[in-house]
Amino acid sequence: MVAVAEGRVYAVGVGPGSPRYLTAIAEEIIGGCDIVVGYEYTLRTIRHLLGPGKTVHAVTMSSQEGVLQSVAAELRAGAEEKTVVVPFTGDASFSESEVVDRLAEIFGGVQIIPGISSVQVAAAMAGVPLDKSRVITMHVTSPIEGKKEEMRQALASGLSVVLIPRPWPKRPDKHFMPSEVAAHLREHGFDTGAMRVSVFESLTTEQQTRFDGTVSELEGREFSDLCVVVFNQSEPDSYMNYRWQWDDGCAANDNDGGGGGEGAPGGGRGGDGGGGCGALRGLLGQCGWRRRRLLLAEPYIQRLLYHKELYVAACQQERHHSAHLQKQGAEVLRQGGPPYNRNRHQYAP
Ligand SMILES: C[S@@+](CC[C@H](N)C(=O)[O-])C[C@H]1O[C@@H](n2cnc3c(N)ncnc32)[C@H](O)[C@@H]1O
Repeated sequence: MVAVAEGRVYAVGVGPGSPRYLTAIAEEIIGGCDIVVGYEYTLRTIRHLLGPGKTVHAVTMSSQEGVLQSVAAELRAGAEEKTVVVPFTGDASFSESEVVDRLAEIFGGVQIIPGISSVQVAAAMAGVPLDKSRVITMHVTSPIEGKKEEMRQALASGLSVVLIPRPWPKRPDKHFMPSEVAAHLREHGFDTGAMRVSVFESLTTEQQTRFDGTVSELEGREFSDLCVVVFNQSEPDSYMNYRWQWDDGCAANDNDGGGGGEGAPGGGRGGDGGGGCGALRGLLGQCGWRRRRLLLAEPYIQRLLYHKELYVAACQQERHHSAHLQKQGAEVLRQGGPPYNRNRHQYAP
């Protein structure tokens, strides 16, 4: 079979629903194409771009294969160079690979144009940083047992989770909407009455809704197919918590005095006489973020690290205390950290 020339078939992300979330490049490519093949909901988002002169095929899950095959045959037979757009809700690179991969098989190549995903909009509305979250889609036809485990592990480890559930009402064993997600977590030992969750429906459209509550409240509650679930477990963690990384005042003080330090485990600034700030920075640099947060919650360490004057005073007048704290920090690390409370997702004080 001869492949269709590259650049003639586009998988275009058109955003979650509102045309206001459509990118300029997506508009340009859709505006200039000849054939559009898409689901009804997705076509609605770009209706204003589907003027005369375009052939538009509205497809369903069961009709799309036949339509795509006939469009591919048309392209292969046609003398003129027609371009095809397959619009995808949200981002074409998120939770769409089963179709995008099929496009590549049928057309011999496909160019992907990114869009704004529903998970981005949901994360933004929930105030959850995506880089501190596990983003999981259950909206696939392949088995999702591995994904369920991935979700449980992420939640147990304290990560936020942005989740696309799986509507499959005709197959209750495959249906995995918010109610089933909540029951699943409860059955796996999660204290769902204490876990916060948000569910966003029909994002960016006039029908948009938002539910905020506990995970246990999701059981028995119905949501539309068009929803995103956000488990927000993130805590504020601004750059001010890492001031020793960039604050010159702190760095300048490394040689100011102190000297009582034991040095950080496996590193630190041993021998420079900067046992206060320097060794502490070494210590903090060595440990994971949870332990670092624990140490940084210690007001004395905050004073040492954040305030030049206090730091100088601490190093010159309170050597004993400074050294003691470093020992304490090293001990915490050596023992593998304090006990971790799985339900509250935090270390015990
Ligand atoms: C096959 S996935 C596609 C995800 C899409 N590619 C994206 O980036 O948003 C379809 C699911 O995405 C979610 N979704 C898409 N648009 C949405 C919207 N406007 N509001 C809420 N959920 C949406 C729903 O869970 C829907 O069932």
